[in-house]
Amino acid sequence: MIDLNRPRRSVLYMPGSKERALEKAKSLPADALILDLEDAVTPYEKANARHLVCSAVREGGYGPREVVIRINGLDTQWGQEDLAAACAAGPDAILIPKVESAQQLVDIERTMHMHRSRPETLIWAMMETPLGMLNAASIAAATPRLGCFILGTNDLVKDLNAEHTPMREPVITALGLCLLAAKAHGLAVIDGVYNAFKDANGLRESCIQGRAMGFDGKTLIHPAQIEVCNHVFSPDEAALDLARRQVDAFREASDRGKGIAVLDGQIVENLHAAAAERLLAKAEAIRELEAA
Ligand code: COA
Ligand code: MG
Repeated sequence: MIDLNRPRRSVLYMPGSKERALEKAKSLPADALILDLEDAVTPYEKANARHLVCSAVREGGYGPREVVIRINGLDTQWGQEDLAAACAAGPDAILIPKVESAQQLVDIERTMHMHRSRPETLIWAMMETPLGMLNAASIAAATPRLGCFILGTNDLVKDLNAEHTPMREPVITALGLCLLAAKAHGLAVIDGVYNAFKDANGLRESCIQGRAMGFDGKTLIHPAQIEVCNHVFSPDEAALDLARRQVDAFREASDRGKGIAVLDGQIVENLHAAAAERLLAKAEAIRELEAA
């Protein structure tokens, strides 16, 4: 089971072949790191990247950052060796590309068990193909070892023969299916990347949209994107102030035997109080992470 309270605002991809980046990540303020063996690594560098990434994970030094290894698909010539090496290295999670069925994850879980993977290593799934999106509900329920959906919007746009638009209308149904499936089964769910890594305003808008939809955070491709993303996915002071007052107002109403409070001209029911408490807990978890 994944700890949903753990902040996953910024989830940075880094090419596993770049030793310098693997080192640099130890001081970057990303909540999670995806050390990539798949698309960010050329076929010539696959074996070296596997060695670099697994050594880096074994050595550690990433502090409170969640460390995830993205392996190549098991239908490629590198996948099985990646999976065996990742199990031995023991990251927080192993990210499987292009997941399209629950059976795929059941098979991977069995293989991880065979490799004596430590039980804390979860499976994370890339949701990035039309078939994967259509099967999101059954994939989310495949195994308790599954912890998170990562949206792969670049692959999805490619497979749909669609276009990247600012408000992402062409992929919004797919995002929604993954969000519903993830929430229904207690998974974390992280939005796709924003490609124009020098465009901070565009990134901010994309983060705001993702946050509004219910994503826990966003995948990133460049360190320059971390700060904007962390900021958008952290509750701001106004939201926290409102949450505190909602919790207080609801408590006072309950003490007086009432089920509904009124605050600033709006009703506060138990569900609003619960959401407010969740927001306050999230802010506290972020504070603890940043102090670590
Ligand atoms: N993670 C960690 N460090 C990174 C990084 C990343 N994703 N991207 C860049 N850096 C580092 C560089 O190594 C460089 O470090 P240095 O100053 O110590 O040399 C510094 O940040 C500045 O890099 P910059 O010159 O601005 O970027 P670049 O032109 O070298 O690379 C990209 C640009 C997009 C190619 C690169 O950011 C990248 O490969 N991103 C990840 C892509 C990926 O993983 N894709 C797969 C999933 S979509
Ligand atoms: Mg992909």
